[in-house]
Amino acid sequence: MKFFVDTADTAAIRELNDLGMVDGVTTNPSLILKSGRDIIEVTKEICDIVTGPVSAEVVAKDAADMIREGKHLATIAPNITVKVPLTWDGLKACKVLSSEGHMVNVTLCFSAAQAILAAKAGATFISPFIGRLDDINLDGMQLIEDIRVIYDNYDFKTEILAASIRSVNHITDAARVGADVITAPPSVIKSMANHILTDKGLAQFDADWAKTGQKIG
Ligand code: E4P
Repeated sequence: MKFFVDTADTAAIRELNDLGMVDGVTTNPSLILKSGRDIIEVTKEICDIVTGPVSAEVVAKDAADMIREGKHLATIAPNITVKVPLTWDGLKACKVLSSEGHMVNVTLCFSAAQAILAAKAGATFISPFIGRLDDINLDGMQLIEDIRVIYDNYDFKTEILAASIRSVNHITDAARVGADVITAPPSVIKSMANHILTDKGLAQFDADWAKTGQKIG
């Protein structure tokens, strides 16, 4: 399973990348806003840190403008993945950009039907949003499972990029049902290391070690 980091915070990306935890990065207009930086400048810095795919999102609504913006974003670095929304125009833009050799991430996917269209349009990645479905009491993980079955039935090469991840359980469940990639905020990836029994065990070892009066080295 590949790990993408869902952020435009370059310090957080560097920290995880130094640990070998980063296979790619996803950004969106909200994350660019949160970074407080110019989209081109911050995306370029991310591409200098990470060798894997870095998703940069278009904001146009019609296909021709999405294609123009996508091509502009793609000039930032060879590892740019153009992110387009799952609208009819987004699918048109996906078809053109992928046919011209660009990686395309089709985002804001909320149904298996949408995921089929993205695969047919040549998407490199499909981004089903787990958390936002769970937010409205639908089953985000079921969507990942459904897309996995459908893509395998027809040998679609589009990779399932589980997005809108809010918890460690989202990551482990996405891994269990066969997502190719997860994209998660740095805080969620880091919290995968936490377990109450690890903390409890360490406290016990510390207490017992202190009683031995020994030192190492
Ligand atoms: C994915 O590419 C999106 O940037 C992201 O996962 C959205 O997550 P959110 O629903 O937490 O905003």
